[in-house]
Amino acid sequence: MDKERFLGQASFAKGLEDVIVCESKIGYVDGAKGWLVYRGYEIADLVKCSTFEETAYLTIFGKLPRGAELEEFTSKLSSYRSLPEPVHRIIRELPQDGNAMASLRTAFSALGSYDNTGDRFDHSAWTEIGIKQVAQMGTAVGAIARHRKGLSPLVPDSSLCYTANLLYMISGRKPDDRMTKVMDAAMILHIDHEMNASTFASMAVASSLADMYSAITAGLASLKGPLHGGANETVLRMLLEIGVADRADAYLDDMFARKKKISGFGHRVYKTYDPRAVILKKFADEVSATNGTRHLYEIAQKVEERVVKQYGGKGIFPNVDFFSGIIYYSYGIDPGLFTPLFAASRVVGWVARILEYLKDNRLFRPRALYTGDLVASYTPLSERV
Ligand code: ACO
Repeated sequence: MDKERFLGQASFAKGLEDVIVCESKIGYVDGAKGWLVYRGYEIADLVKCSTFEETAYLTIFGKLPRGAELEEFTSKLSSYRSLPEPVHRIIRELPQDGNAMASLRTAFSALGSYDNTGDRFDHSAWTEIGIKQVAQMGTAVGAIARHRKGLSPLVPDSSLCYTANLLYMISGRKPDDRMTKVMDAAMILHIDHEMNASTFASMAVASSLADMYSAITAGLASLKGPLHGGANETVLRMLLEIGVADRADAYLDDMFARKKKISGFGHRVYKTYDPRAVILKKFADEVSATNGTRHLYEIAQKVEERVVKQYGGKGIFPNVDFFSGIIYYSYGIDPGLFTPLFAASRVVGWVARILEYLKDNRLFRPRALYTGDLVASYTPLSERV
């Protein structure tokens, strides 16, 4: 096959590596320096000084909100939290022990059937739906978490911030201030990460002007995968399987020998430490010290040391998914809910990037390099052997 002929003027990058598909002012990842900013603000500063609601506003609207703007945004996020009863019914019909991301994807797809206000594109209407979807994501995660335990969903508590309410709806307990702060920091760190697979999937769907629910459902479908958001759950299961730090070497020797990828390591863009992992490691250290999960943190330290020694030269370091699970597990959250928690934050990035792209929309339509036959003569069914 004449590769040049079929490429024409186009270039070929498997997995769209290093291909730029849009312009954006939302966030920047410097993969060599391990640096991440949202709208010009370093994530470490946002974790220290901001809240999930404020950072969500910043990500979607492009500036830090004034007092009244934040109040209005927060009260919208709070007022949009409820789900239509039929969506609760659909969640209840799903298997209790099924994959929570599959349930969340199904719930979001169904939500679209109960809100067709965005079937025709209108930027301000889609913005409003986007805010609603952020609010509803938390409630859907909470309802699925309760269903997994055979319990009825809780009514969202409008006196609680987004993160505290999410934790309350999952566990039935209101978190204390420190837990809220730590989990809010984790939520801030997951809000946006440029053109990752789920963001791209949601933008590709939105670019056909389908509707916001279809686009966010596509984001959820993509985030589920173990190469992407699903890795946080896989990491925790690996740490549990290793069991004690002394067994980490044997486990990793076997993984290295079989050339198996280690979940929570490596990244398409970062070729050094993911800055989110650096921050989450400190929280994992703190939280594991008092919640009976110190052994998991010790195993993680050992795994980090060995994997970086083995693969650091290839640019493979811990990513955002490596330490987050220790924090969630230490707080008693079921590992099956780790990726839904990720979604409850990343929905902000999906919404922001969809809205930004739609200001000057162009349908995503890349090409494939054809490597098949060009001339095949048709054989009637009766003559095929
Ligand atoms: N462990 C061991 N080796 C790895 C790892 C890993 N976690 N990640 C990449 N490599 C190796 C590959 O085996 C390959 O080696 P080779 O060149 O000798 O064949 C090389 O690095 C390149 O790997 P690719 O998979 O082609 O690199 P890509 O840019 O596609 O990787 C990815 C990105 C998919 C995240 C990968 O690092 C991976 O699978 N990591 C594990 C899963 C994970 O943690 N995902 C979460 C990422 S963060 C997020 O999405 C929220």
